[in-house]
Amino acid sequence: MASIAVCPGSFDPVTYGHLDIIKRGARVFDQVYVAVLNNSAKKPLFTVEERIELLRAVTQSLPNVHVESFHGLLIDYARSKKANAILRGLRAVSDFEYEMQITSMNRVLDENIETFFMMTNSQYAFLSSSIVKEVAKYNGDISELVPPVVEQALKKKFASLAADGP
Ligand code: PNS
Repeated sequence: MASIAVCPGSFDPVTYGHLDIIKRGARVFDQVYVAVLNNSAKKPLFTVEERIELLRAVTQSLPNVHVESFHGLLIDYARSKKANAILRGLRAVSDFEYEMQITSMNRVLDENIETFFMMTNSQYAFLSSSIVKEVAKYNGDISELVPPVVEQALKKKFASLAADGP
């Protein structure tokens, strides 16, 4: 049986931390579906389409990685892909409680889909999309945090927001 993992998240935007998990996941699982949460209740910086485009750009060299969006329950999306695994990155102990909650819920919803955690590479342990956006907003150097295509997209996004005014 092929091992199929879903790697879900907001990816607003994708960082080197996410990419580290996706690349390592692609070595472990036969197929990896990177699933961008499409949640109208959240107010993301990038649209779902923009986030997918950035993810596709940075994973184009990985033939077994596919990027899609999903809405509703993750477990329903995972079933629709015939996935037997959910892949998440763990940065620090502060992630643990939240991850335990969603993992336990997902197990109640479908005990046949296992959640796997990979420890984020220590150089990215502090990294989050929120921190990247904060630094980018004030023109800080984010070249070590995100791939060049994401850096450009952030610059463009904040420039257009500034042009639109407060
Ligand atoms: O990158 P994030 O924002 O931490 O990812 C959170 C995500 C997308 C994994 C989580 O919000 C999710 O799975 N949402 C879909 C709704 C769902 O399935 N909820 C039930 C489990 S709590």
